[in-house]
Amino acid sequence: MRHLISPLDFSVEELDTLMDLANDIEKNPEKYAHVCDGRILATLFYEPSTRTRLSFESAMNRLGGKVIGFSSAAASSAAKGESVTDTIRMASCYADICAMRHPKEGAPLVASLHSSIPVINAGDGGHQHPTQTLTDLLTIRSLKGRLGGMTVGLCGDLKFGRTVHSLINALVRYTGIRFVLISPNELRIPSYIRDNVLEAGHIPYTEMENLEDAMPELDILYMTRVQRERFFNEEEYIRMKDCYILDKAKMALGKEDMCVLHPLPRVNEISTEVDDDPRAVYFRQARYGVYIRMALIMTLLEVSPC
Ligand code: NCD
Repeated sequence: MRHLISPLDFSVEELDTLMDLANDIEKNPEKYAHVCDGRILATLFYEPSTRTRLSFESAMNRLGGKVIGFSSAAASSAAKGESVTDTIRMASCYADICAMRHPKEGAPLVASLHSSIPVINAGDGGHQHPTQTLTDLLTIRSLKGRLGGMTVGLCGDLKFGRTVHSLINALVRYTGIRFVLISPNELRIPSYIRDNVLEAGHIPYTEMENLEDAMPELDILYMTRVQRERFFNEEEYIRMKDCYILDKAKMALGKEDMCVLHPLPRVNEISTEVDDDPRAVYFRQARYGVYIRMALIMTLLEVSPC
């Protein structure tokens, strides 16, 4: 039995197969409409979510399966003091596969060690968010036609943003990737990623504070929200929250074929005036999130169309 806890749990070849499947699901949805008939997905969400939870639900429904779950710790027995390991033992009795989001780093990994069904990490604290990364990879591959040979700008809260951490981990496996890490000094990428992933892998990267300076060289611009819930101090958040606002004037500095991604939700960091720019692909990205989650559920449940 397989779980998805980190984006590195799948090899580059396995990811290609997964993305091929997602692209086929997009083209031929009717072929997959009943492959999960009679199967149940449990969504165990101890932290708020819109896209991740709903896209998992949509994915399972579109495969013919059913969904059970809770959407906050307060609505589960965690509020009574139940441990994650006991909750996953219960979920293993009620469902065939589960997606777990938790504010504590490592909680889905712990759950996977006590589970008799596949566990998907749907985001653990400031650590990793592998299914968002699969979504990001599918978006980039589908729209740019490749995953290597490009300059990727990551902008915003690189310290607490788990989507950024997972994406860097995944992209360094492709050749010719260069990163431009754009953040205020206080929100720089954690040293464990800088040292253990970028430096250790001899991956070219630059760190800068100014988004305008970075714009002209980027093939991908990945914007992120300042992660309010992970700040210790509200004043510090207020000081940081509007550190970057992507607007039309900044977009004018970018390449014609650049793609702007954002895992969403956005707060202020992309002005709504950018939404109509054909290079703004964040809503299409959310749609790719359903196809890749359908492909992932099928792969972990080992089902295929007959
Ligand atoms: C992200 C997350 O939860 O980390 N959202 C998502 O799943 N699409 C990004 C964020 O909350 O900023």
